[in-house]
Amino acid sequence: MKRLTMTMGMAAITAFLAVPVLASAGEVTGDVDNGRKIYQNGKGDNVPACQGCHGIDGLGSDDMGTPRLAYQVDTYILKQLADFAKGIRKDNTMFQMNDIAAGLTEQEMKDVAAYVHTLKTPFIGSDLDKLAKDDPSVGDPAKGKMIAEFGAPDHGVPACQSCHGFHGRSAGRLYPAIGGQRYTYLKHELEAFREGWRAYGSKSLSAADAESMDDAVRVNDYMGQMRAVAGRLTDEDIANVAAFLTVARPVAPGNPRSPVRQ
Ligand code: HEC
Ligand code: HEC
Repeated sequence: MKRLTMTMGMAAITAFLAVPVLASAGEVTGDVDNGRKIYQNGKGDNVPACQGCHGIDGLGSDDMGTPRLAYQVDTYILKQLADFAKGIRKDNTMFQMNDIAAGLTEQEMKDVAAYVHTLKTPFIGSDLDKLAKDDPSVGDPAKGKMIAEFGAPDHGVPACQSCHGFHGRSAGRLYPAIGGQRYTYLKHELEAFREGWRAYGSKSLSAADAESMDDAVRVNDYMGQMRAVAGRLTDEDIANVAAFLTVARPVAPGNPRSPVRQ
């Protein structure tokens, strides 16, 4: 009896400790097995396999300009798929995500979001030296680290970590992991948000407004939060902060637990 009480006590403590972990590690209720099937094989004639562009391991590709999806916040993945399906975010890289997302049911979006969140593929970042051979504008991680941690107060840029967490490892449901993301993709998104700021400020666009939206912009961020930041970034800032974030390690000194990715 004593032993049983102790076991129950331990279970209660474990359950209590588990609460914050569960809150940040998987909130979308989806069928992971079905998500895996869609990710690996696609669905019917209209939805190609996600892995064809995002990689078997979910790490994306600099050559194609696709993002890493592995271990990304599942609520964020789900929002992006819904935004692509509604047309309020446009795939302005390969021009295919809108049709692909529109071919998934809401439940299938949840399934695939839940699946990619389970992919804890280790990643050490885009190969900046290799990218710099073709693109001399590739940034300097040391300069980008300053922006991620402190912003650029002389021209109004807030620290990325104030919303995206330490080294961009994500902070909850709204703020995606941007650390350990592909360099090419990071740069492209920052430029698209900046174009969005120039065209619309922080205005929220309806799907009808978005029909006439220039293809190059990204404006699906809640309350224009990200556009307001990107609107102040220079080309150099973008190259530097993307260079830092792609190689940023998610583990803080003294806190070895990475809330979102490993
Ligand atoms: C033909 C290539 C291709 C295929 C196939 C593809 N994607 Fe994509 N995906 C892209 C590209 C390119 C982007 C970046 C779009 C942009 O912002 O310009 C993207 C972006 C995304 C994003 C946004 C991620 C973020 O960090 O905001 C999600 C989520 C996503 N894809 C999920 C999927 C899923 C799920 C599937 C399979 C059902 C899939 N993709 C199939 C090319 C592809
Ligand atoms: C005020 C809060 C806030 C700050 C500060 C902020 N961001 Fe964001 N960022 C967001 C939000 C919210 C989103 C998600 C938008 C959405 O839902 O589509 C986002 C999305 C992004 C994305 C797209 C990620 C993806 O996978 O597509 C990138 C890249 C990004 N932010 C980079 C940065 C950088 C670099 C900085 C610092 C210079 C920064 N952010 C500062 C709020 C912020």
